[in-house]
Amino acid sequence: MMSNVSAGGSMDDRPVAVIGAGPVGLAAAAHLHERGLPFVVLEAGDRVGASVRQWAHVSVFSPWRYDIDAAARRLLDEAGWAAPDDEGLPTGGQLADDYLEPLAKLPAIAPHLRLGARVTAISRLGADRVRTAGRDGLPFVVRLADGTEIAARAVIDASGTWRTPNPLGVNGLPAHGEPEAADLIDHALPDVLGDAREAHAGKHTVVVGSGHSAANTLLDLARLAETEPGTRITWAVRGGSAQRAFGGEEADELPARGALGSGLHALVDAGKLTLVTGFGVHTVRRDGDGVTLIAADGRTLAADRVVSATGFRPDHGITGELRLDVDPILGCTRTLADLIDPNEHSCGTVKPHGHRELSQPEPGYYAVGMKSYGRAPTFLMATGYEQVRSIAAALAGDLAAADDVRLDLPETGVCSIDAVSSGGGCCS
Ligand SMILES: Cc1cc2nc3c(=O)[nH]c(=O)nc-3n(C[C@H](O)[C@H](O)[C@H](O)COP(=O)(O)OP(=O)(O)OC[C@H]3O[C@@H](n4cnc5c(N)ncnc54)[C@H](O)[C@@H]3O)c2cc1C
Ligand SMILES: NC(=O)c1ccc[n+]([C@@H]2O[C@H](COP(=O)([O-])OP(=O)(O)OC[C@H]3O[C@@H](n4cnc5c(N)ncnc54)[C@H](OP(=O)(O)O)[C@@H]3O)[C@@H](O)[C@H]2O)c1
Repeated sequence: MMSNVSAGGSMDDRPVAVIGAGPVGLAAAAHLHERGLPFVVLEAGDRVGASVRQWAHVSVFSPWRYDIDAAARRLLDEAGWAAPDDEGLPTGGQLADDYLEPLAKLPAIAPHLRLGARVTAISRLGADRVRTAGRDGLPFVVRLADGTEIAARAVIDASGTWRTPNPLGVNGLPAHGEPEAADLIDHALPDVLGDAREAHAGKHTVVVGSGHSAANTLLDLARLAETEPGTRITWAVRGGSAQRAFGGEEADELPARGALGSGLHALVDAGKLTLVTGFGVHTVRRDGDGVTLIAADGRTLAADRVVSATGFRPDHGITGELRLDVDPILGCTRTLADLIDPNEHSCGTVKPHGHRELSQPEPGYYAVGMKSYGRAPTFLMATGYEQVRSIAAALAGDLAAADDVRLDLPETGVCSIDAVSSGGGCCS
């Protein structure tokens, strides 16, 4: 087993380990570079933006001006980058090709990026979770899948949630029979107008879930049905109504996000899909070449394929030896939970926050980006960019800059009833 960990050397000479080269991990790298701090970016995939590339065909709803981190833009501009139009809406593929790849190739970042480097565990050098004495002065040990260990002064965990989708079961557990029918179930966002076309054309697909992934797939399936006779669409939601999935529609400050909801609303109104409400999946049964979903109340839905668009959850497995205090509901940092709990908030904004809100009982470890929100669905890249700006400033000892957190996010145009009726607005 290889290891480059030793007890010698000063903490300040150790790199900051950034886990994940998605939009937020690479933004962290740009800020660390600007602060003159050594860093290493550890990316499990064989390219940067590995998770974003999984939804390469999907158009984001926030225009480029929200999708490019300020420090990353400064570095790219210096290198003569042809910046995209601020108001354009990239696909996931364009986000990776036109922004993340050029950023990762810059001399400021490329030498410090390791691809195919999947982090499997993090601890402290020579100390397990129980040992307290001298803990804060010990470097982190970041272990990779190939056994390599890297000593780091701090860890910025930007590993996202894409690799850990929620299962189909209404109670958050895999539905009975779900693993056995896995070949008939797509996780979120199959490219039904591209490489997954054949599997859905002229077939009956049931889409389960009520977020933007479900909306995207339902809209694409409806387009497919226009040219492929026999294509049928059923949308199963576990709640009593689909209203929440429609979002703020025209009131949304991001028109493309509003259009997802209004487009879906129009499909339902036009009868272009069959909406089934109150359908919580209990069992998945293979039936010949097809699949039947059985609800907790005994109702059934038979189809050729199922799309499970039930959202994502963070994987805390790699941090089992660290002292983390995560919210019991969302699995996010506790101080963020009240601001983003989907039981309370739907407006899509969050208070400006940074290193203080994201700090843990384990000093020097920060979960950022999509992972920082745990199971809450309203994360935006712009939020992650401000998180890592603040953390890099704090690690550099510039607390004035670290504490000066600013965030101006577009609202969804719909706030949860409780928050509105309490009179305080939603998330300000
Ligand atoms: C379809 C879709 C559309 C979205 N549209 C928008 C939008 O319009 N606007 C917006 O602001 N946000 C949008 N989001 C939300 C969010 O901003 C994106 O998911 C964004 O990619 C999150 O960035 P991230 O860097 O936190 O995580 P990710 O992009 O998920 O990157 C995580 C990286 O970590 C790597 N990784 C994972 N585990 C490990 C490990 N153990 N070791 C090493 N590397 C690891 C992954 O391979 C990946 O490259 C969208 C999300 C989805 C899914
Ligand atoms: N830019 C785009 O076009 C685009 C496209 C896709 C995704 N995204 C982004 O990607 C992120 C993830 O979106 P997402 O739609 O994949 O996940 P999501 O927002 O978490 O939505 C999934 C929803 O499905 C429902 N659900 C969860 N488990 C279920 C189960 N077992 N059975 C039935 N329903 C279940 C939940 O709604 P209820 O609790 O109400 O049932 C949940 O909110 C979000 O940030 C989103 O904005 C953006």
